Amino acid sequence: MDNIIKYDNADAMAEAIAKLIEKEAKIKAEQNEQLFIALSGGNTPKLLFNLLAKHYKNSILWNNIRFYWVDERCVAPNHEESNYGVVKELLFNNIDINNSQIERMIGESNPSEEASRYSSVLSSQLIMLNETPVFDLILLGMGDDGHTASIFPNQLHLLDSKNLCEVGEHPSSGQKRVTLTSKVINNAKEIIFVVTGKSKAQILKEILNKEENYLQYPSAHIKPSHGKLIWMLDNDASSML
Ligand code: 6PG
Repeated sequence: MDNIIKYDNADAMAEAIAKLIEKEAKIKAEQNEQLFIALSGGNTPKLLFNLLAKHYKNSILWNNIRFYWVDERCVAPNHEESNYGVVKELLFNNIDINNSQIERMIGESNPSEEASRYSSVLSSQLIMLNETPVFDLILLGMGDDGHTASIFPNQLHLLDSKNLCEVGEHPSSGQKRVTLTSKVINNAKEIIFVVTGKSKAQILKEILNKEENYLQYPSAHIKPSHGKLIWMLDNDASSML
């Protein structure tokens, strides 16, 4: 069974993630190493970004962390839907961090060119295991349709990609997105799914109980090859478990 941690509410969950980042950044600093983190977008992580900016501003060794993205909408960085733009507004603008610590996906570039560029960035900047970059920590969300990163249920072929990054497409809006593939995600040392809200409870139950057809959901294909997977759920999201 996957490692499932339930929280009374999203605030308690955000606090736990903030403390984990603080701890892991400190350990890396003591080893004279950097902490390589990939962030997801959407609404759920906003609480964490606000908390980090307000209450961990001076306690986390920000210049010991390198920030990357799990996925990015193909929009300009100042667009309201930019995953990078959200983190910049809520977190980076409020802490002391060098831009050199931040490696955004360039949403305004040609999507397939950016997927290729970002793949090269990851290969040159991260340590490799099984010829694949290794993140220390990846924070994932799960959509109401069971997608994760920007791998949607109608694009399951992206899960078999040999590439590090691919171009996904939002099934209803058609918005292009650059996304890490499961090849990179599953190669991480630690993957945390951060899931809140009743709208996710049914699919979570199907995935975590491995119910019939659960593999139709991209989130079900996140299986770390050597690291650990933790599902951090609030009471609403875990209400059917
Ligand atoms: C994105 C995310 C995406 C997100 C899920 C959950 O760019 O939208 O990376 O995978 O994590 O859609 O989003 P919510 O947190 O808004 O439910």
